[in-house]
Amino acid sequence: MCGIVGYIGEQQAAPILLEGLSKLEYRGYDSAGIAVYDGNEIKMVKSRGKLKVLEELTQGGMTLPGCVGIGHTRWATHGSPSDINAHPHFNKNHTIAVVHNGIIENYMKLRKKLEKKGYVFVSETDTEVLVHLLDYYYNGNPLETITKVMYRLEGSYALGIMFKDHPEEVYAVRKDSPLIVGKSEAGNFIASDVPAVLKHTRDVYFIDNQEMVKLTKDSLTFYNIDEEEISVEPTHIEWDITAAEKGGYEYFMLKEIYEQPKAVADTLNPRLKNNDIVIEELGMTDEEIRNIKKIFIIGCGSAYHTGVTAKYVIEGLARIPVEVDLASEFRYRNPIFEPGTLVIVISQSGETADTLAALREAKANGVKTLGIVNVVGSSIAREADAVMYTWAGPEIAVATTKAYSTQLIAEYLLAMKFARVRDVLSQEEMEGMIEDLKKLPEQIEFLLGNKEKIQHFANRYLATEHVFFIGRGIDYAISLEGSLKLKEISYIHSEAYAAGELKHGTISLIEEDTLVTAVITQKELYKKTLSNVQEVRTRGAFVLAVTNTGNTEVEKSADYVIYLPETNKYFTNSLAVIPLQLFSYYVSLGKGLDVDKPRNLAKSVTVE
Ligand code: F6R
Repeated sequence: MCGIVGYIGEQQAAPILLEGLSKLEYRGYDSAGIAVYDGNEIKMVKSRGKLKVLEELTQGGMTLPGCVGIGHTRWATHGSPSDINAHPHFNKNHTIAVVHNGIIENYMKLRKKLEKKGYVFVSETDTEVLVHLLDYYYNGNPLETITKVMYRLEGSYALGIMFKDHPEEVYAVRKDSPLIVGKSEAGNFIASDVPAVLKHTRDVYFIDNQEMVKLTKDSLTFYNIDEEEISVEPTHIEWDITAAEKGGYEYFMLKEIYEQPKAVADTLNPRLKNNDIVIEELGMTDEEIRNIKKIFIIGCGSAYHTGVTAKYVIEGLARIPVEVDLASEFRYRNPIFEPGTLVIVISQSGETADTLAALREAKANGVKTLGIVNVVGSSIAREADAVMYTWAGPEIAVATTKAYSTQLIAEYLLAMKFARVRDVLSQEEMEGMIEDLKKLPEQIEFLLGNKEKIQHFANRYLATEHVFFIGRGIDYAISLEGSLKLKEISYIHSEAYAAGELKHGTISLIEEDTLVTAVITQKELYKKTLSNVQEVRTRGAFVLAVTNTGNTEVEKSADYVIYLPETNKYFTNSLAVIPLQLFSYYVSLGKGLDVDKPRNLAKSVTVE
């Protein structure tokens, strides 16, 4: 979703802002703009379209002199993508400029009030309300003005603000939208995400909800909503800028697919100690683990899909009942929280608005919460009672791959830990499973080595219009992910079905040459899924099967078979996902689409 960058320092601001915004492109956007104080006034350039347009308009920022500025990439919510609706937004005299990420829910009410007071709105955005409100309350003191405005806002926001009569300062504030602050010798920064500042600094500050920061070129001062100074400790970012760059790959998605062996190992290895699983960050005693009566797993999109896998794994191994919920449903369905409930929220970004709201709902009901999160210091990581980080590193492509794979690892570890502590998994069984887990990175590597076969297959399906993914049990969970991956980046309609459910309606859609991808990895379900494969083939479907090495029986029923290395039955999704990711990638590539930035999508969905 929208990206914010701000800079104040010794260097020319505009090129730095443009460069920072380019690192936030992955979030998804449809227009961009920057505002810079040039010594006399705040100058603004903004336009619909990609950053390239803005770069051309400003000659790479060179036409905008000045060392203080804010910039923005906009993902349209209120008002279509257009030059006028792009950020920054000005007050009437062009003395205040604002960039905003989030949604002001009471903006209509505020807009009407402001219009009655004579304010004229030029855009359709909720953000313009903010800048006129700042103008209305402005008394020469930016802090007082910003807090007055904050008290009147409902919704979510991260804001970067410049005041013409405080030209040596930039202000920022956040509530339920991400914002980080960076400090360097050459000046200070605000940004929606760390990659935007990494070239300049590794020391970043995560500010909490309703906290503010005043930046000058050589200082940072943090405040709470009562305008009292507070201290915020910096976090040193360990990962390198190259981790957030393409490193020779054509797209981030392919790079991230290839990073999976390392991401999986990084998430796994620190938690394996002397044939045991140690998850210190869980903060639960064995007694507390034994007392878990029920688990809710909550997430959106692919994170939710890993939750569906986790349900099978946790219930199968630890025999604890698990309910999996889409965060957007969970938060409004009035769930029943009983003593002994554990709520696990899963999120790559740690900022997904619905998942964050679901977490808060759980906390408000007094149950223990655990976040499985990739972005260190993100809102979910900070608000959950405990956080188990996935060590996937920065994920830039909108379609998740390596974060998905590491979420699975975290979930397997939890399931095994719970099962062992509750004594439903013997030490010997656990050790055998640990050995299987340790093999996953190299098995993923092996599958990646066969990418040409999948690429070749994908190229045959560039013009296809509908694809179905089927499977049973854990294979159904991976079908959900395979289907989402394909539709989001290739724009081909696809659906995932529990294989046994096909004949209750969906099979009527199968016709000559419809592609059906069948995942068949669960031995006890082989025969069942194979009869579903027969059913669709009889009706003309072309079947791509993904199954375990040795299951050659499948060749009699499927048209094309991809074999996976042998692993524990609970871990097969970690392997099956690889050909499905590659298939989607190559279809999207073959169709000439922007693989990393599919239309209408945003990396971090920070609005409801
Ligand atoms: C799909 C995808 C999305 C995310 C979803 C949740 O490839 O990336 O479906 O999984 O938006 O995002 P996080 O994990 O950041 O909460």
